[in-house]
Amino acid sequence: MKSILDGRAALKAEVDKVAEVAGYLWQNGWAERNGGNITVNVTEYVDDEIRNLPAISEVKQIGVTLPALKGTYFYCKGTGKRMRDLARKPMDNGSIIRILDDCASYVIIADNAVNPTSELPSHLTVHAHLIESGSSYKATVHTHPIELVAMSHNRKFLAKDVLTNILWSMIPETKAFCPLGLGVVPYELPGSNKLADATLKELEDYDVVLWEKHGVFAKGLDVMDAFDQIDVLSKSAKIYINSRAMGYEPEGMSQAQMKEMSVAFNLPK
Ligand code: 13P
Ligand code: ZN
Repeated sequence: MKSILDGRAALKAEVDKVAEVAGYLWQNGWAERNGGNITVNVTEYVDDEIRNLPAISEVKQIGVTLPALKGTYFYCKGTGKRMRDLARKPMDNGSIIRILDDCASYVIIADNAVNPTSELPSHLTVHAHLIESGSSYKATVHTHPIELVAMSHNRKFLAKDVLTNILWSMIPETKAFCPLGLGVVPYELPGSNKLADATLKELEDYDVVLWEKHGVFAKGLDVMDAFDQIDVLSKSAKIYINSRAMGYEPEGMSQAQMKEMSVAFNLPK
């Protein structure tokens, strides 16, 4: 079957990266059933032929109006689709959508009429803000990392930057490669506009936020960058939990050692 990716190496490379990351999410045990979703702003790869492609779905409402998204295009994981399937067949388990001129609705244009993720309000609200702020970030990832979600069940970890400091102090790399830390979004209904609004607000200060008792949501330059930040945080959470499982509270790097890291690596915090 003909695909929109045929003859478009740059667009195909972006979708291939989504498939690669989808495989990592599954291998990590973060993507049970249809858990998690990925969207990528692919507007820069859109040519006149794509712009003229007819809709292959009816017009669908986003649920929010996002003026910055006028004329933009996104690759979106399909709702109910499995990451482990997407890893092999990204265009059967996701689709490319065009945001319409009212900035409140969209159509699917390729390859198949796979309905986008139920978390589209969160993804598109964040993409709109990234465009408005002139950011070069193009990808957003939501997934269910076991240890980080487990930590979100303890209220004492949910106060501002408590988790950030614990996770940074487990291994130097976490501060270096997730330099803004981990924000916390109090529980909201999955797929809701309230969750989207709370996510947007918290992402002003962080690249990765923890959705209480649900998962994480990250933004990045591309899908690999967003994944890497979740991965380093998850690694720290594993070290913390392994230490606790061995019967002790891990010492953690000292504040002086973490300050030294910030100076040596020119980190923002
Ligand atoms: P979708 O299958 O609609 O992407 O939903 C998965 C999920 O993790 C919702 O939070
Ligand atoms: Zn989820």
